[in-house]
Amino acid sequence: MSEISYRGLFDLTGKTGIVTGGAGILGQHFCAGLAESGARVAVVDVHESKTIELAQSLSRRYKVQVIGIGCDVSDPASVQTMVTRVISEFGEINILHNNAAGKSDDLEAFFAPFEEYSLDQWRKIMSVNLDGMYLVAQAVGKQMIAQGKGGSIIQTASIYGMLAPDQRIYEGSFYLDRQINTPAVYAASKAGVIGLTKYLSTYWANKEIRVNTLTPGGTESGQNDEFKRRYSARIPLNRMADAYEMVGALLYLASDASSYVTGQNIIVDGGLSAW
Ligand SMILES: NC(=O)c1ccc[n+]([C@@H]2O[C@H](COP(=O)([O-])OP(=O)(O)OC[C@H]3O[C@@H](n4cnc5c(N)ncnc54)[C@H](O)[C@@H]3O)[C@@H](O)[C@H]2O)c1
Repeated sequence: MSEISYRGLFDLTGKTGIVTGGAGILGQHFCAGLAESGARVAVVDVHESKTIELAQSLSRRYKVQVIGIGCDVSDPASVQTMVTRVISEFGEINILHNNAAGKSDDLEAFFAPFEEYSLDQWRKIMSVNLDGMYLVAQAVGKQMIAQGKGGSIIQTASIYGMLAPDQRIYEGSFYLDRQINTPAVYAASKAGVIGLTKYLSTYWANKEIRVNTLTPGGTESGQNDEFKRRYSARIPLNRMADAYEMVGALLYLASDASSYVTGQNIIVDGGLSAW
């Protein structure tokens, strides 16, 4: 038997990680999970004040260095400035969690029926959900290659990048005070994320940069009871996820516990994709 500590494989002490969309519902848990595991974390989000607030509370709680950085992942200059800042604060980057996704300030346009969907809205969502992943992976990947120590990149997709939504669940379903659905642009962007992950996993395999997808199922965050009932009825575990339930998969993919895993998709969906 080797002297390996199996629990130690999950330890992130001395590593540094970036989480985009870090101030969001899932992102806050992802940042906390990395910090509790010992990593220094850059909380990156378009809402700068939220990133700074979260960074302060996490560094107090977990006694590791956490910084908040405002960044628009769809803007190449903003991405470069963010990466330069992380390197100047932490010296290197070992983990990237590409997790940001855009809803829209204009919910009417975001939830519009496909037949009337505007190209402008389609492009806005793609620019964050897919262009943003490419831009951040490109900037951080270059840095990981320059460091010569490999790295782990995790990209958040969605169950709707793999499976079509059952349109019947949206009848009577409200969120953010309005009727909801899953727009086609969201599904298409998330399917693109899975493709980008697979591509980069073989492209950077010889640099020891592992690239994997984390696919969450529907997570409870204020949807009305009708939506929760209809959604849960299709789930083998019969409920929506709690946001913290996504963190275990991230810690596995970010750490040496998954050192022989690349190009994969870890699906945390309560069993939805099993039937
Ligand atoms: N919550 C769910 O049920 C669910 C299900 C499947 C997949 N996901 C995916 O999980 C990830 C996190 O989702 P969430 O539920 O925390 O959503 P969220 O909206 O709470 O978080 C997304 C974060 O991304 C940030 N963001 C938006 N545009 C940005 C930009 N241009 N630059 C930088 N940051 C930007 C937002 O400010 C927000 O904080 C997303 O990729 C989402 O698609 C979520």
